[in-house]
Amino acid sequence: IPVDRFDLVIFGATGDLANRKILPGLYRRVLAGQIPEGSQIIGAARSEMDAKEFREQVRGAINEHVSPSKIDPEAVEQFLAMLDYVAIDAKGDGGWDDLKAKVRPDAINAFYFSVAPALFGDLAERLHMRGIAGPDARIVVEKPFGRDLASARALNATLAAHFDETQIYRIDHYLGKETVQNLMAVRFANILFEPLWNAQFVDHVQITVAETVGVGGRGSYYDKSGAMRDMVQNHMMQLLCLIAMEPPYHFDPDAVRDEKLKVIRALQPVAPNNIVRGQYLGRGKDAGYLEDSEDPESKTESYVALKCHIANWRWTGTPFYLRTGKRLRARTSEIAITFKEPPHSIFDEAEGDWRENVLVIRLQPNEGMNLKMMIKEPGPGGMRLVQVPLDMSFAEALGEEGAEITDAYERLIMDVIRGNQTLFMRGDEVEAAWAWTDPIIEGWEARADRPQPYDSGTSGPDDALMLMHRDGRRWREIR
Ligand code: BG6
Repeated sequence: IPVDRFDLVIFGATGDLANRKILPGLYRRVLAGQIPEGSQIIGAARSEMDAKEFREQVRGAINEHVSPSKIDPEAVEQFLAMLDYVAIDAKGDGGWDDLKAKVRPDAINAFYFSVAPALFGDLAERLHMRGIAGPDARIVVEKPFGRDLASARALNATLAAHFDETQIYRIDHYLGKETVQNLMAVRFANILFEPLWNAQFVDHVQITVAETVGVGGRGSYYDKSGAMRDMVQNHMMQLLCLIAMEPPYHFDPDAVRDEKLKVIRALQPVAPNNIVRGQYLGRGKDAGYLEDSEDPESKTESYVALKCHIANWRWTGTPFYLRTGKRLRARTSEIAITFKEPPHSIFDEAEGDWRENVLVIRLQPNEGMNLKMMIKEPGPGGMRLVQVPLDMSFAEALGEEGAEITDAYERLIMDVIRGNQTLFMRGDEVEAAWAWTDPIIEGWEARADRPQPYDSGTSGPDDALMLMHRDGRRWREIR
């Protein structure tokens, strides 16, 4: 469905995110016929260049980051013709009159801050004071949204000084992933799972986001962040919220975000013995974390595993285990919900190998769902039980449409243009997430703990295995 005509200004248009994700994503939307003629995409950055040079930069980005089968010369030209450029001084006066002249008040106006958060205040102030961004304009901001509660509050206050919360779109790209949204469909468009979705029937939940990449190339950012700030406070917390929240009364931005916020507020503090930090070692030609981070003494974690509890009626008694790390065995993200035993077994133990029902929601790769069920082993051998998967890959189930899973950024940018905030974090959510994360990080800093080393290409540090073993449970394999 095409969106209405818009002017989108991208601050930081020469940067990595713009070139890798935002601009190629917008191109793919042009290719899909979703962006109407007459829309403008205005790059804004420090570098002096003209629109023609900017278009050439973007042509290069498309060639590099869009798969060759999606490069259609006509669509590329159509997209490049929408582009314009303004050299801008975020902290001064340069370029702002020029920008004002280009942004048309009669189109939808969106301003994407793909810049360091230290510049948010300068941009917001100039856009507002100079009358470039009016009360209907949309402001899009990227993570990291603060590095603790105090800095997140300060950022929220800076934006709130110029714009209303309904104008602010805080991106967490995990919320744009197809399967993450599907979580809400699975839970709330089916009767099957919801009656069992509570501590009475769910033994535990595991959320895994495993990556094979290290932090080489972005060590200076990452070293000040670590897995807790980089992944847990935002992406994993969002996944946890979508799994644990109560049904919103309607699929409406504030109704959904109100329910997510309640989950974060109900999260209990995590005791130090329920959390494990790790740091990867080098292997072969792959550098270890300490080389990648360029600080041989770094205590920053590239891996976190933790057990947490949500103190409310639905979840008290069901632990949630979260883990994420770099340089692990495989790139795989999934949520696994393990159900409890049936109340009574009519089958003797000898007759089979009973295992729990597990619902696995695969985020990547190969988005889909897998429900592990007990059935009778086929054959004449009597009543023997065996566990089999009911497996669904979205790509296979939905044919062409399933194969066309759009990139998270594309979807989120289109939601900005449509004015739909459902998949964006509200200011209070971000603050609540920091309020839960801060004491954990402060504890590490106070104790000056070193993360536990783990070998690259494994599933993480041994203590993380113990975190579950001591509860009589085990992590699912990373593969
Ligand atoms: C980013 C983190 O937000 O998410 C990165 O800063 C991480 O460290 C990335 O690699 C993971 O995203 P995805 O979409 O590849 O799972």
